Amino acid sequence: MIQKPRGTEDLIDLKVREYFALEMIIRNIVDSFNYNEIKTPIFESLELFKRGVGEETDIVSKEMYTFLDRKNRELTLRPEGTAPTVRAILENKMYINENLPLKLFYFGSMFRYERPQAGRNRQFNQFGVEVFGPKTSEIDCEIICLSSTILNTIGIDEYTIHLNYLVNGEQRITYIKDLKEYLKPKTLCDDCKKRVESNPLRVLDCKIDSKQFVDVIDMKDYLSQEDKKYFNQLVENLKNIGINAKIDKMLVRGLDYYTGFVYEIKDKNGSTLLGGGRYDELVNQLGNVDLPAAGFGIGIERLLIALAEEEIFISTPISLDAYIIGLSEKAKQFSNILLLMLRKSGLKVDFDYMNRSMKSAFKQSEKLNSKNIIIIGDNELKENVVVIKNQITKEEKKVAFDKIVDAIMGE
Ligand code: HAM
Repeated sequence: MIQKPRGTEDLIDLKVREYFALEMIIRNIVDSFNYNEIKTPIFESLELFKRGVGEETDIVSKEMYTFLDRKNRELTLRPEGTAPTVRAILENKMYINENLPLKLFYFGSMFRYERPQAGRNRQFNQFGVEVFGPKTSEIDCEIICLSSTILNTIGIDEYTIHLNYLVNGEQRITYIKDLKEYLKPKTLCDDCKKRVESNPLRVLDCKIDSKQFVDVIDMKDYLSQEDKKYFNQLVENLKNIGINAKIDKMLVRGLDYYTGFVYEIKDKNGSTLLGGGRYDELVNQLGNVDLPAAGFGIGIERLLIALAEEEIFISTPISLDAYIIGLSEKAKQFSNILLLMLRKSGLKVDFDYMNRSMKSAFKQSEKLNSKNIIIIGDNELKENVVVIKNQITKEEKKVAFDKIVDAIMGE
């Protein structure tokens, strides 16, 4: 039997219902924050991610699904949503002043060739938010608040917000020099030995080596006066709305575009649920337009795992208003008319298409959690009635065709 590719998942039964319930909750929240949806293609040119995410990042250097199309164009299944969103706002010239701030969100599948494990797949679904225009601690606060509102609303209360502020400009050069000095005497893994030269910040993020960096020099001490003020204001704004973030000098993020605050939210087991931050240079880098930006991305599957661990179910259980059983050929044929009439009235109804015996049709209606069973045979057809059995009160009655909707709605 052909099996699904490694690192992919079939969303079925309860899982797919939880998935869409989660999407609906997030959509409602993001709407109340006044964000608009954007849908970008699933594949983009390889160049976009090389320039956007950074050639030295793990994502671009070893995790992308890149292929040539029939005209030998180098294309990539998107590994993330920020670079495509930036490409789209540039290409569609969405950045004109009267559109700002541009507050956008997206849902979509992303692809990364990673070692699959719980919460880490090769195809996964992300919800992301990107805001273009303002560079203020208030909008940064809104972004963090939006992500924590999602967690609180679905009932994930135990989480930690890790927050840091990346050093920029002249100060960054000094910090990197000092960081390299700090790292020199350390015994590093093979990847990090290379990273020390190519991308030393990423060494701090290494799963293998990071334990030995507790005394690492603090980026905060290198920030310009202006950046320090901005960061303190952000922390203050968050406190004012009851959000306590843990300042984490080790937090650097795995994508190269960040230029200001960065954050991740981890659940009580330390698994990262979401991450994001400010990236003020990316739009300029990709399209020569000066446009500050910030955002975050959540792995939907990670939220589903966190919900399942807490035994929180957010989807509504399966239920029907009525399940119809036809006892004769003629009654079965009549079912299409009856189903259409009931569905047009907004009722959720289904029919025993498998021609089960009466006993198993009743069992099936229980499985489907149907509030009523409608039985129809030749005698009922002749009298223009059906038999409705209320599964809650166990009451059974004959109802005229034109009174069926009322009888079911009146329950
Ligand atoms: P990221 O940290 O690479 O950031 O991914 C964001 C979230 O996507 C992660 O926290 C995680 O929940 C989920 N995720 C990432 N990789 C996987 C995977 N292999 N399997 C399952 N879930 C995964 C970004 O992608 C940035 N674009 C976020 C951002 C938006 N920053 C600014 N704007």
